[in-house]
Amino acid sequence: MASSLARTALRTAARRAPRALPAVSRPAQAASYSLLAKAAAAKSAQCATASGTRGVKTLDFAGTKEVVYERSDWPLAKLQDYFKNDTLALIGYGSQGHGQGLNARDNGLNVIVGVRKDGESWKQAMEDGWVPGENLFPIEEAINKGTIIMNLLSDAAQSQTWNSIAPLITKGKTLYFSHGFSVVFKDDTHVVPPKDVDVILVAPKGSGRTVRTLFKEGRGINSSIAVWQDVTGKAKEKAIALGVAVGSGYLYETTFEKEVYSDLYGERGVLMGAIQGLFLAQYQVLRKNGHTPSEAFNETVEEATQSLYPLIGQKGMDYMFNACSTTARRGALDWAPVFEKANLPIFEQLYESVKNGTETRKSLEFNGRATYREDLNKELEVINNQEIWRAGKTVRSLRPDYKPESE
Ligand SMILES: NC(=O)c1ccc[n+]([C@@H]2O[C@H](COP(=O)([O-])OP(=O)(O)OC[C@H]3O[C@@H](n4cnc5c(N)ncnc54)[C@H](OP(=O)(O)O)[C@@H]3O)[C@@H](O)[C@H]2O)c1
Repeated sequence: MASSLARTALRTAARRAPRALPAVSRPAQAASYSLLAKAAAAKSAQCATASGTRGVKTLDFAGTKEVVYERSDWPLAKLQDYFKNDTLALIGYGSQGHGQGLNARDNGLNVIVGVRKDGESWKQAMEDGWVPGENLFPIEEAINKGTIIMNLLSDAAQSQTWNSIAPLITKGKTLYFSHGFSVVFKDDTHVVPPKDVDVILVAPKGSGRTVRTLFKEGRGINSSIAVWQDVTGKAKEKAIALGVAVGSGYLYETTFEKEVYSDLYGERGVLMGAIQGLFLAQYQVLRKNGHTPSEAFNETVEEATQSLYPLIGQKGMDYMFNACSTTARRGALDWAPVFEKANLPIFEQLYESVKNGTETRKSLEFNGRATYREDLNKELEVINNQEIWRAGKTVRSLRPDYKPESE
């Protein structure tokens, strides 16, 4: 999930979360990326059920065959050898910069960070063990030193800074993104990569915090990979290798366009926008009909998130239909098509709004305002004050594993 609101919240959460112990220097080439990671790679190889060469699998997704790349095809020594002449210049140290940068560094690659001097990210990077003048530099200096330029500024900042960054991305360098946003919507962002560099994408399907925690657990996040421009003939291979380097377990091939369309669509849809809308609508009707806030919240959010959604995650909605009561099953079978029919035109409208660039223009306009932070806070304050979420605080406080929530 990657909504801009969620990114901000997750970035804040990531910054509040305990950090890994600072590592002050690049690990030796021989060092493993982590014992846990190695063990997990071995385990995933053992558990492989698909056909094809080990590490590159053709899998059957409900009748459609797709190629999936995996980390086990890139043992650490091969990865380090592949990038032995490269400097990965990570531009931006927010949610993704933090997760991807630390993972690549722990994988023994030569990583440097480029951020605004003395800004919030500069301080965070120093807390994480990046050393000014050694592997932490102002943006322009980092780009000059890097061979692979990983543009992990916020999407609005990628557009705002492009004019000063573009001339530094010279022939022979590789330009890397984690979202198709900037180049796909170039008419609005004005991000047009130089013609003589490879342009690739690795988009982790989760927050930077998850990118880091899964890596430390020896797992790996699912990521999309894509190629926008292949000058060397090696762009795809580089994207796969970089995906592994930054902590991906499995890599799914896509295009820049499909990545950005699906991502913007999903976060506005069931990942956040639609779910907030549905929660609110259901809650309001319960309240209008005399149900207490606790009853309305329990029936709308608590049961969903604590009981049913985790089961859907583990076993699918098809399983839920088999596992629930006969009464619930009858009702859900009857009402699902009603919701589908009512929502289909909205989802179609949403997809069109993404594809024709309306969502991008809104995002660039809003996130590029000088008053961005104040304007955002006003809107978030409205959500904070909604009765449903205030009631939720009390409901959550009764959970056996409750820990006081920081404001
Ligand atoms: N977060 C996610 O869940 C997620 C998931 C997948 C892909 N992505 C993609 O990954 C990329 C990075 O996203 P993110 O969420 O990691 O970004 P972010 O947390 O918002 O990070 C923003 C970074 O941009 C810098 N920045 C902001 N405005 C700037 C400006 N005007 N000039 C220079 N630097 C500026 C910030 O530095 P300061 O601290 O100095 O302001 C910070 O280092 C985006 O393309 C995003 O779409 C994100």
